[in-house]
Amino acid sequence: MKIGVFDSGYGGLTILDKIRKRLPAYDYLYLGDNARAPYGSRSFEVIYRYTLDAVRHLESEGCRLIILACNTASAKALRTIQQHDIDPSRLRVLGVIRPTVEAVRGSHIGVVATQGTVQSQSYVLELEKQYDETVITQQACPMWVPLIENGEHLSQGADYFVDKYLCELWQQDPKIDTLILGCTHYPLLLPKIRAWVNAHAAHSVQIIEQGDIVARSLCEYLQRHSDIESVLSRGGTCHYLTSEQADTFNRSAGIFLDSPISAEHIEL
Ligand code: DGL
Repeated sequence: MKIGVFDSGYGGLTILDKIRKRLPAYDYLYLGDNARAPYGSRSFEVIYRYTLDAVRHLESEGCRLIILACNTASAKALRTIQQHDIDPSRLRVLGVIRPTVEAVRGSHIGVVATQGTVQSQSYVLELEKQYDETVITQQACPMWVPLIENGEHLSQGADYFVDKYLCELWQQDPKIDTLILGCTHYPLLLPKIRAWVNAHAAHSVQIIEQGDIVARSLCEYLQRHSDIESVLSRGGTCHYLTSEQADTFNRSAGIFLDSPISAEHIEL
């Protein structure tokens, strides 16, 4: 049986890449719901329904464990799906927010994320459970995912929106020392985000990407759950599914992953 990795679009590839580097032996199935991305500005009901469609599809394709490599889906749909929609003896679904929060240290933490993730308060609630004294500030960046999904993340046009949202975040708290990229798409903007921070932040800022954190957390999860680990197949394969046209996905995903891939179109 396979490990499923789901995102609304291409962002989850930043997580899949790190997971496969750390755990290359397993078989993976990636699903990007590119035809319905972005999820970030959609309502709870819609994000929940779309995410459940994806989970059911991955389960029907033989996944025993699914990572929601999408903060928006983790924030808005994970708990309901875990509590109401799956039989944990047949399928486990994990998110990316809790492992990220557990790996972060900082006294002034800034979180950049989609509107849905920010509104859900998931990061604030999880961080407050862990740290009493930490100042937490959030900033929704609704234009970042559309820029990335459309391959414009390295263009000059992207500079405007990187500057806009990071200025707004730093105006709320100029003392930020830790910046969580709370959307799996955002590592694609990392060169611009890093350049902005270096030019504008008064002191050094640790930028938190989720890929390695989620990969490490999955590794530990499999060590703790030998019942699940033992049923995972070990062919070292990775297949890609998209709700968009396969050619479109192949072109963009190939750039993100630095190697050509061949995806299959599915209807969700
Ligand atoms: N990559 C997703 C996340 O981590 C969401 C993007 C979107 O569809 O808005 O939140």
